[in-house]
Amino acid sequence: MARWTAREKEAAEWTEGLFKKKCVPGPVVPEPATPESVRAAIERFAELPTETGVMQDLAIGARRAAKGVSTDRLQGLSEVVQNAEDLGATEVRIQVREATLLVAHNGRPVRLTDVIPLSMPWLTSKAEDAEAIGRFGIGLMTLFHISPTIEVYSGHYRLRIGESGLSLAPARLSP
Ligand SMILES: Nc1ncnc2c1ncn2[C@@H]1O[C@H](COP(=O)(O)OP(=O)(O)OP(=O)(O)O)[C@@H](O)[C@H]1O
Ligand SMILES: [Mg+2]
Repeated sequence: MARWTAREKEAAEWTEGLFKKKCVPGPVVPEPATPESVRAAIERFAELPTETGVMQDLAIGARRAAKGVSTDRLQGLSEVVQNAEDLGATEVRIQVREATLLVAHNGRPVRLTDVIPLSMPWLTSKAEDAEAIGRFGIGLMTLFHISPTIEVYSGHYRLRIGESGLSLAPARLSP
């Protein structure tokens, strides 16, 4: 972790704690405060599953299986609306711009504890929330029917989720 400053290293360590201890439902962990420390956290989340080949293959297979749970190509649209509602959103906007489907909502922003369930299928942060619509941790993966990559932008968080795993999304929304 020599490539990081002390603050970034701290964020990467919180990430590692979430990954190596039971992360779902998320314990209370501090939020990285700066764009650089969020970036370090995402980079660490991205590399941790790749450090164990079996774990990486398992996640790739599970993503494929989660996508296949629905054969409805547009299932992902209702899934993102349900996820927004679970975060308290009262409004969801969906726009098609060229070849990009954009979804925005006014619910709670992304937190560090969301990153693992967002990128790893069959993990949900809602297991203990009786009010939540989400239950299985796979709804988002049905979006792979319409795109090989899902990008999430919220605060300093920029995530790219592909069928092979998580990476840092570009600083700006891909054109
Ligand atoms: N817009 C979002 N902002 C922050 N975190 C999110 C968002 N959408 C999903 N998540 C996180 O990703 C996880 C996976 O979402 P996904 O829709 O795949 O499953 P779920 O909602 O938990 O269950 P289900 O499969 O029943 O929909 C959620 O549990 C939540 O932690
Ligand atoms: Mg869901």
